[in-house]
Amino acid sequence: MKFVALNFLLLLLLVRYADGSGDEQLKNVLRLHSMDHDRRIEDGGSVKTRLDSSSHMDQSVMVFFTLKDLKAGNSMPIYFRKKDSSTSPRFLPRNEADAIAFSLTELPALLRFFSFSPGSPQAKAMEATLRECEIPAIKGEVKICATSIESMLVFASGILGSNSDFKILATEHHTKSNTLFQNYTILKAPDEIPAPRIVACHTMPYPYAVLYCHSQETENRVFRVSLGGENGDRVTAVAVCHMDTSQWTRDHVSFRVLGIEPGSPGVCHFFPADNFVLVPDS
Ligand SMILES: *[C@@H]1O[C@H](CO)[C@@H](O)[C@H](O)[C@H]1NC(C)=O
Repeated sequence: MKFVALNFLLLLLLVRYADGSGDEQLKNVLRLHSMDHDRRIEDGGSVKTRLDSSSHMDQSVMVFFTLKDLKAGNSMPIYFRKKDSSTSPRFLPRNEADAIAFSLTELPALLRFFSFSPGSPQAKAMEATLRECEIPAIKGEVKICATSIESMLVFASGILGSNSDFKILATEHHTKSNTLFQNYTILKAPDEIPAPRIVACHTMPYPYAVLYCHSQETENRVFRVSLGGENGDRVTAVAVCHMDTSQWTRDHVSFRVLGIEPGSPGVCHFFPADNFVLVPDS
């Protein structure tokens, strides 16, 4: 596999990994929020929404739009959650990660290992992550919860082809802002990135870095979108549009947020800055 295109990401990840060490690192790394697992809802595929019908829709679901909304001059309210590298968990080297059980049935032992008491927000977040990781992929989808960079790369090269370079696409914030939720205007015609297959990876709340990566056989379209916020913020956002949502659960949060029929094609969402999309570099 050629790693050229991944240098940037690896560098970032390795730097993050290098500034912590061993067991101490494992125990210190995380301040998990019990809310964290709700962050996962922006994604389609096998990610099931956990918002029950009684809960109000919080701002974090404001990442969806439809393909026809994606044109220059259009405005929409978008929630971009903050990337907080000071509290982001560190990546473990593969041999270390592989030596730690990663399964729901091992949760009690894992909680003892990480010194989290059962019922604590951290315990709940770990349970939610393990549960989500163990949900089988939907039809036409492959998924992995990668516990190391190496295992993420092996998974990605299996899908994108081990002979091709990858390109990493991630949302970039060009301004520092604390306004997470605001109206943005699409500043110019979005760039479509040609991608026969894509692998999307999302960070999961866990005591060390876990990436939920998945890829669907159905058609997806990838865009880079220049956004201007109401308060002057500038964002180059990565968005993916799912052209086939027929396998999604009827109660997928996107259908409710957008007020569209379950299974409607062209459901798009923006990616927060700590997630990324891998595409073949053609
Ligand atoms: C976006 O603009 C609309 C119309 O001006 C306004 O009603 C809404 O409150 C704004 N949303 C945000 C998140 O600022």
